[in-house]
Amino acid sequence: MRTTSRLALTGIATVAALTLAACGGSGGGSDSAAGGDGKTMKLALNQNEEHPSFIALEAFGEELSEATDGRWDIEVYPNATLGAQDETIQLVSDGGVDLSIVSAPQLENLNKDFVIFSLPTVFDSVESQMAVINDPAVVGDVYGSLEESHSFSVIGGITQGARSFYVKDGPVETPADLEGKKIRVQESPVFIAMIEALGASPTPMAYGEVYTGLQSGVIDGAENNEVSYFTQKHFEVAPYFSYTNHLVGADFLIANTGVLDSMTEEDRAAFDEAWQNTADNHTQLWGEATEKAITDAEAGGATFNEVDAQAFTDALSPLIDQFVTSDSQRALYDAIAAATE
Ligand code: GCU
Repeated sequence: MRTTSRLALTGIATVAALTLAACGGSGGGSDSAAGGDGKTMKLALNQNEEHPSFIALEAFGEELSEATDGRWDIEVYPNATLGAQDETIQLVSDGGVDLSIVSAPQLENLNKDFVIFSLPTVFDSVESQMAVINDPAVVGDVYGSLEESHSFSVIGGITQGARSFYVKDGPVETPADLEGKKIRVQESPVFIAMIEALGASPTPMAYGEVYTGLQSGVIDGAENNEVSYFTQKHFEVAPYFSYTNHLVGADFLIANTGVLDSMTEEDRAAFDEAWQNTADNHTQLWGEATEKAITDAEAGGATFNEVDAQAFTDALSPLIDQFVTSDSQRALYDAIAAATE
């Protein structure tokens, strides 16, 4: 049963986190050499082995290892075995875990400028998003903003594709169809506000709990991309996927600052180059995985429908004024707009 396995996983995550914490920060652990000599970095991921992020990140490790003659490597821990994203942020900050993939709203909780990446209409396609989220000229300041306060940097981004709603009990066509429904959201102010703007009731919850939440009726629906909808098997318990495409989401690679600082200049350059290739590879895999997810979810009984897109755009448009309030948010918002024109 999923409840049992989730509990078991939580136990594993706790043990894994404690063990890793006991190993200390960068350079710790039996598989790690000291400082600039390199190490096998632990990368936390909340997706399973089928997901394109896992596949691209495994290739990231291989490329990095090859480019650094085996000095630096990456071991990807999928299925949130090192913890939910908010927990892995803490672990990366402490140095018990070296790297993690985290969703934009998780970083919004640490620096409100990150909210810009989750606003509707900021990106209108995966292509426009990818043209920006690894460009240091646009995102360099915000990506480096957590180094001093939290001891990690954002290395770059990969897409989550467009997010849409899915529910248990019949297709959503207009915001009125969401009225009063309990909808799972990522734990962040902008996602909560988004659901409220649509007249639904937001329920913040970790990704790994959505399946049982839907199954037990704690929530009536959620929002995500087709790939997560399929790989997490949400289609089994919420078979109506409605193309609201309300935003194009971003995931970020975060890295412990101590580990980055222990790399030689040459190895750091190899790391950055391998990351760029990873992001490109991921975008390619993303398109293919999306097609497959739709076909396979349909074969499993899911239906996909179009919605009154204008009605959703109108309902969500006030979020821009509500969340772009400070000078630094405005500057980032404008820089992204200029770069995606
Ligand atoms: C996507 C995203 C994850 C995120 C998840 C969620 O799958 O890639 O990083 O955790 O959505 O809704 O929580």
